[in-house]
Amino acid sequence: MRTTVAEIAPSIYRLSTFVPNVGPTGFTFNQFLIDADEPLLFHYGQRSLFPLIVEAVKRVIPLDKLRWTTCSHVEGDESGALNQWLAAAPNAVPAHGQLGCNIWLADMADRPPRALKDNEVLDLGGKRVRWLDTPHVPHNWDAGLIYEETTGTLFSSDLFTQTGPADPTTESDIVAPAIAVA
Ligand SMILES: [Fe+2]
Ligand SMILES: [Fe+2]
Repeated sequence: MRTTVAEIAPSIYRLSTFVPNVGPTGFTFNQFLIDADEPLLFHYGQRSLFPLIVEAVKRVIPLDKLRWTTCSHVEGDESGALNQWLAAAPNAVPAHGQLGCNIWLADMADRPPRALKDNEVLDLGGKRVRWLDTPHVPHNWDAGLIYEETTGTLFSSDLFTQTGPADPTTESDIVAPAIAVA
């Protein structure tokens, strides 16, 4: 297994790991790095994949530059490696919506989290990330998504999930394959 790095929008990188022994077709797990004055990582990934993903991040930025970490909701592939990231990235602040901070992050994180209000914008210096409370979408009460405003990039977490290996970008329909998986 290896984690590939692809720039999917200006200074926005998809970190992607295809895990062949998940289900009949294998499964692709992605994290996203928004590089800026204050870089942000979206999705922590599983604890088991952390050694691969952290090396991929280091191919883009030094770890002590990572300033923010967040995810959509609490779950193994979303938040499993939370404290491995906080240990590896000394300047990173874990952030989430207020509800997520209340029901899991404040208790589970090794450093105090930053609670984000619905529609609050984090200015990362060159990039602007808006937190959107989306309870139960894709799933979980604490769920939220982020939108990067300068590139118009919505980070949709498990929405449009597909099985098997997946390319960084597509020009084709993403709805039908996602419905096929549901
Ligand atoms: Fe999920
Ligand atoms: Fe997920």
